[in-house]
Amino acid sequence: MYKILKKQLLAPNIYQMDIEAPRVARSARPGQFVIVKVGERGERIPLTISDYDAGCGSVSIVIQTIGVSTQKICALGEGDSLADFTGPLGQPSEFVHTPADELKGKRFLFVAGGVGTAPVYPQVKWLHDHGIEADVIVGAKSEQMLILTEQMRAVSGNLYIATDDGSVGVKGLVTDVIRDLVDNQGKQYDEVVAIGPMIMMKFVCLATKPYGIKTTVSLNTLMVDGTGMCGACRVTVGGRTRFTCVDGPEFDGHEVDFDEAMRRQGMYRTIEQRAAKIAQEKAEGHVCRIGLDK
Ligand code: NAD
Ligand code: FES
Repeated sequence: MYKILKKQLLAPNIYQMDIEAPRVARSARPGQFVIVKVGERGERIPLTISDYDAGCGSVSIVIQTIGVSTQKICALGEGDSLADFTGPLGQPSEFVHTPADELKGKRFLFVAGGVGTAPVYPQVKWLHDHGIEADVIVGAKSEQMLILTEQMRAVSGNLYIATDDGSVGVKGLVTDVIRDLVDNQGKQYDEVVAIGPMIMMKFVCLATKPYGIKTTVSLNTLMVDGTGMCGACRVTVGGRTRFTCVDGPEFDGHEVDFDEAMRRQGMYRTIEQRAAKIAQEKAEGHVCRIGLDK
């Protein structure tokens, strides 16, 4: 069992939890993720690692309540435990393996969309700890939905904020900020790393392609086993089938077939919505209709 040491509300329906998981904390690297189970028979949910502390033996995860299983996790409190916490999974970010002198001269721009800010943070922090100050754009629907802003400001070179409603920062999308930085502010970047909703990553790649900037994305596909055996996380990259859980989650964004990835991501939406409805009816004390409770 993996104890919840701390639980914090970051924004409406978005929580950060610090989990006691010393072995995962010792081996975690930026770019990796974990698969979590609430109970022995629960769904396996891939979740972003937002921080880790080998000294304290804790790993921080960020969860947004979007379905029945994430609601179950978010209903847990400090002192409760998760049944399973498997990781770290996936490949660490490429820069972790880049020789220090080569890395020093590289100009990185990170683009974080909404909850995608959580996996961006450990990457920018790792670079900061290795003497590289990366620029970061954070996009969110509104000021209220921004997460980890102060932590990110502390480890980034320049932090640019964009909100859809203009409640803070630039009013617009992250892609508007990318174009403004390159076209109007004379910024040059060797690599863009974009993490957020699939649609955002697709449009960031379309924005960076004309500039010829290498663009890395982190794909949050459906996952089941997380070991490369089931095929649930299959994506097409450069015309080849790749498995997000073992080959990724990071890929060359200019090579990803985003339209296929988005179609596959939405495959179980009806089942998820039905499960959410049943859970809600149960919570409200209604009797389940025969056949729907399977
Ligand atoms: P959101 O919908 O609020 O979008 C965040 C920002 O992305 C927006 O403010 C905007 O600047 C940008 N964006 C969105 N659509 C765009 C478009 N078409 N063109 C250009 N920019 C665009 O984000 P949210 O509600 O926090 O997103 C939640 C989603 O993020 C979930 O689907 C979740 O699965 C995903 N997510 C992905 C990862 C990952 O590893 N890739 C990690 C955590 C969450
Ligand atoms: Fe099963 Fe990746 S989750 S192969």
